Parts: sequence; C-alpha cells; structure tokens
Amino acid sequence: MSFSTLVAILASALACAAQTTVVVNGTASHNIPETLWGLMFEDISHSGDGGLYGELLQNRAFQEVTPGTVAALAAWTPVGGASIAVIADSTPLSSALPNALQIIVPDGVAGVGNMGFWGINVNASWTYNASFFFRFPDTLPSSDVTATASLVSASGGTVFASANVSLSPTADWTQVFTTLTPSASAPDTLNNFTVTFKDFSGTINTALFSLFPPTFMGQENGMRADIAQALLDLGPSFFRFPGGNNIEGNTIATRWQWNNTVGPLTSRPGREGTWSYINTDGLGLYEYLVWIELMGMQPIMAIWSGFSLGGQTVANSPDALAPYIEQARQQIEFVVGNTSTPGGALRASLGHPEPFTLNFVEVGNEDQFAPSTYLYRWPAFMNALQPLFPDIRFLATTFIFNPVLGPTPQSYDSHMYDTPDWFAKNSIMYDGFLRNGTTYFEGEYAAISVNPSDLFGTPANGRFTFPTMNGSVGEAAFMMGLERNADIVFAASYAPLLGHVTQNQWTPNLLAFDAGAVIKSTSYYVQQMFSLNRGDAYLPSTRADPSGTLFWSVVQQNAPPAFIIKLANTGADAANVTFQLPAAVKGAARLVQISGNPTDSNTPESPDKVVPVTSSVDAGQDMVVAAPGFSVSVVTVPIA
Ligand code: AHR
Repeated sequence: MSFSTLVAILASALACAAQTTVVVNGTASHNIPETLWGLMFEDISHSGDGGLYGELLQNRAFQEVTPGTVAALAAWTPVGGASIAVIADSTPLSSALPNALQIIVPDGVAGVGNMGFWGINVNASWTYNASFFFRFPDTLPSSDVTATASLVSASGGTVFASANVSLSPTADWTQVFTTLTPSASAPDTLNNFTVTFKDFSGTINTALFSLFPPTFMGQENGMRADIAQALLDLGPSFFRFPGGNNIEGNTIATRWQWNNTVGPLTSRPGREGTWSYINTDGLGLYEYLVWIELMGMQPIMAIWSGFSLGGQTVANSPDALAPYIEQARQQIEFVVGNTSTPGGALRASLGHPEPFTLNFVEVGNEDQFAPSTYLYRWPAFMNALQPLFPDIRFLATTFIFNPVLGPTPQSYDSHMYDTPDWFAKNSIMYDGFLRNGTTYFEGEYAAISVNPSDLFGTPANGRFTFPTMNGSVGEAAFMMGLERNADIVFAASYAPLLGHVTQNQWTPNLLAFDAGAVIKSTSYYVQQMFSLNRGDAYLPSTRADPSGTLFWSVVQQNAPPAFIIKLANTGADAANVTFQLPAAVKGAARLVQISGNPTDSNTPESPDKVVPVTSSVDAGQDMVVAAPGFSVSVVTVPIA
C-alpha cells in the first residue's frame, strides 16, 4: 500500500468517524404544540378532482365548459356509433348545471364512455356506486329503455362489471343509480366507464354522471381511500385549505366561494380553478370539514381577502369590501354557528348540527403580492370579523412584519420554497424572533431545486420533479429549527401536498399519485418521522452550527417516557453524534433512519427507492447516533 493510499484511507476513516457531542438540558424550554405538524391542501395538479376527492369520472357534469366545443367533451368518447355533444340544454338540470351531454343513439348498442382521471382503478374487492341524470328531449320512447353501465378496458375487449338500469320514457330530468362489482381486477388503470343503450334509437340528454369507489371511512361524497390513508399515516394535526393560490382565483369572479361548494351536487356550478383546470367543487366546504373531523385533524381555513392572483383587487372602500367580508362571515358561521343561525342551520341540514372545531382562520393567501391594499383589507376584515368570532385566531398572510399591519396580527402564515442548502442555513430563522405573543405558521415550505436561479423554473430547468433526498434532509434541518422555536411556531406544513404524476402545475409534491398508485416521497417520510415522534416538551441542547452539516433536536415524550432525538446530516460524510442525555435511560432504543444518495427520489418507476428503516440500538445516557451522509434519524430512548 502506498503512503498516499494509506493517508486517504485514514482521512476517510476520520471523516466517517467525525465526532460531535451534544449536551442535552433536562429542563424543558417549551411544550410542543399539539398543532405543530399538519397538512396544506388546495386543488393543484389535480390533487382534489382526480386526487383526494373520490369521484372517478372526469368532467362528470360539463361544468364551466363551452357547449358545442371539442374541449367540452374532455374525457368523454362516443361508443358504438353514437354521436355526442355538450349542449346548453333548453331544460337545464339546474341553474348551476346548465349543460348536458346529448347522445344520439343509432340502432344497436351505443352510448358514451369516460376515461376517468387518466385511468380508472378497477378493483374486484370494491363495489362502485354509479349514477347519472337523463331525459328524452324529443320523441319519447314507447317503453322503458335499458341503459347498461359498465367498467371496461380501454380497448373495450374486457368487461369487468356491468349493470342494467331502466330509463322511463320522460322528458323530465330523472336520476338513476346502480352498483358495479367487478368480476376481476383490471391489470392496469387503462379502463373506461361506459353507459350504453340497446333497443333504442333516438336522442337522450344526460347530465351529472358519477362513479364512486368505496370512500375513506365510508364518507358520503368522500375521499379516495389510499390517498387519505397515506395522509392519515402522517399523523397530521391540522388541515389548511382551500388554498394556496386556488382560493384566490385568477379573477375576483373566479375566486373560491364557499356557498357554491355546499349542498346538492346539482347546485354546485364549479369554477375555473386558479391552477388551469375546472374545479367541480364536489369536494366542498362540508366534505372538507367532515373529513378533517374523521381524520382527527383541525382546520386552518382560509377566507378570501379581496385579492385575486391575476392582480384584480377589490377597491379600498368599505362599500366595495362589504359583500366579501359578509361572505367570509357566512363561511365562518357555516362552520361554527349554532343551529339558530342561517349558516348553522344549513350545516345541520347537511347532517352536522354540532359546530365544527375552528380555531384558526387565514385572511387570504400570500397577500404580500398586494401589500398596499392588504394594509386596507386586513383591518377591514379584522375589525368586522374578530369581534364576531373572538375565540378564533386570525392569521395574516404576508411576509412577516412586511407590510406593518394594524391591528397587529396575532399570527402570520409565511411560505418558503428554496434550496436544500437555504433550508439548512435558515434553521435558525426563528431563533431571534421576539417572544411577544405573536405566533407563526410555516404554512408552505419545500426544497424545490438545488440552484437558487432555478427556484421558479420548470423541472427541465432544474426544478425537482419529485422530492430528492438532499432536499428532504435540508427540510429536516429546517424542521429542527421549527421544533426549537415551537413556543412561537405553532404549525408547519410541506406544500404542495399532492400532485398527479402527469398533470402537474407545480413540482415537487409530498405525494405523487395516478389513478391506481400513491407514491410516498422522501419528504413524506421525513414529515412522518417528525410528526409521529413529536414528543411533548423541547429540551434545549448544544446549538448546531447553521453553516455545518449536522442538525438536531431533542424532545421529551411523556408516555411512554422517553427522550426523542432527531438528527439530520446534510453532508456526504458519515458522522457520529453523542447526545449526553439528562437522565438515566434503559433498555433498547428504537432507531428510524432514512438515507440515500442526494439526488435519489421515489418515483412511479421506483416508488420505494428510499424508505426509512427501523432497528433497535443500544440505549445509553451518552447516546451515540451514527448518521450516514444525507440521512435523517429519529432515536427514541426509553427513560429509566
Ligand atoms: O404550493 C403552491 C403555491 O405556492 C401555493 O398555491 C401558493 O400559496 C404558493 O405560492
């Protein structure tokens, strides 16, 4: 062995064995707030329609489309020689749903098919609920017409399930229901839902189709089970909704409006979402709230604040703002009003007489993009709403302290999208903040590129497509700082939460999905490691060097009693860190660790490339944690 090789080996061994000692104080500085880790949601990248919302049919009610256009037929195709077109029906199903799908059926078996949201998951262990409205606009048939609803392969070669329904000869809109139970699961998601007619030739108008698999926890009009389960597995405390930019609308007219999202689906017009596709609003305010409750979360609900993403802002005058403030008041009343109020009575009529929990309301989203008018809008909303809802904490959504708002916000929601390196270096961000009663919500954050110049580029320009290991470790370093400052940072959520693998307006996302699969990213696992191991009280310890590569946090858990050590290594070199714990420990410690190459991602092709590994390690009051390069570790050490 040459001398230079020997030197290299020794240097590498020293690097591998790099030692750091952390002294942990036994006196807690603050409790960990129960709201600390949660979810941020808006309909982006089909995270709602085609994602979390369980409906399987795309463009099911022809909402907000232009009749007669090819675009209006998105996701629909004729079957067996039928002619189809979206029309503005002379007798609309409802004022909210003026469009119908007109099907001209020739002799034989013909009808219409829907491709779902780029596929339909056909599962033999599920029973699907299907329904649609119909009417015969011209000559009425002489007797009932048989419609067959089916789940078929895209080629039409395999019928997985079918059921007949009888359509009575009527010119009035009538809804029919059936169930579909596949005889076999499909090998892939390239499947269609079809409705065909036989022994009938003529014209039939159809509207508001629906196809639901079993939903998460059986919620009516509820959520896709595998996505909801993946979210539940994060152990989230809160759910921020409905945006994000998507609450804002590209114009004032297309803002999210709660009242258009509640009640029967026939009364929901849908809207042009901010993220370039139509939102059905089937996932409406009531569905959100019921689901949040089922999940054991609490809402952080946004109200529209007078600013739309396209730049339109409501004029700075009391008269101009009044209707929007009133709409926000009614939205809050729907959530928490007692049943003697119109909002509370409406909620009760939908099945939830008890008020929902609502502790936090955000006034807008990213109003730093209209700071001069937020100076006016913030007090207008606050002065009207805070006295009516004194128990609710209203959050300002600007850069922190910029602009300087009055009344002084009790809380801010701040958003960070940056490089992994930025997140590590800024883990100290909240350390110097005044402890004066103001609290902070890190409502959106994610490492999205390694190049500062590419932060808002496309994936091709360097933006991550899926979270990468170095990004996730950078986020973990930042999260150490959030735990350290959890006396003032009461909540934090990665964003965006969900994105369809081929329909993204934004990358990376915490979870990717398509019609059949859910892909958990490296950042998902990091969020989960923090959330499931949040502990009860923060134990101060030796400060990490923010320009270094090792970041940690130690908390105490009450039951069962334990110290929980979190350690992120943002560098390539392995390191050993000794935590000098403040009390005797016993037994074996549990180590959960995720590590990989910096550019590793979990992808549709390789969904489990990087996953956490759980093992048992010796516990000691001087607890040595071995941190590979680009790793996050959580060690639970039982207290004697
Ligand atoms: O998370 C994606 C977008 O980023 C959100 O809609 C917006 O609030 C932020 O700019």
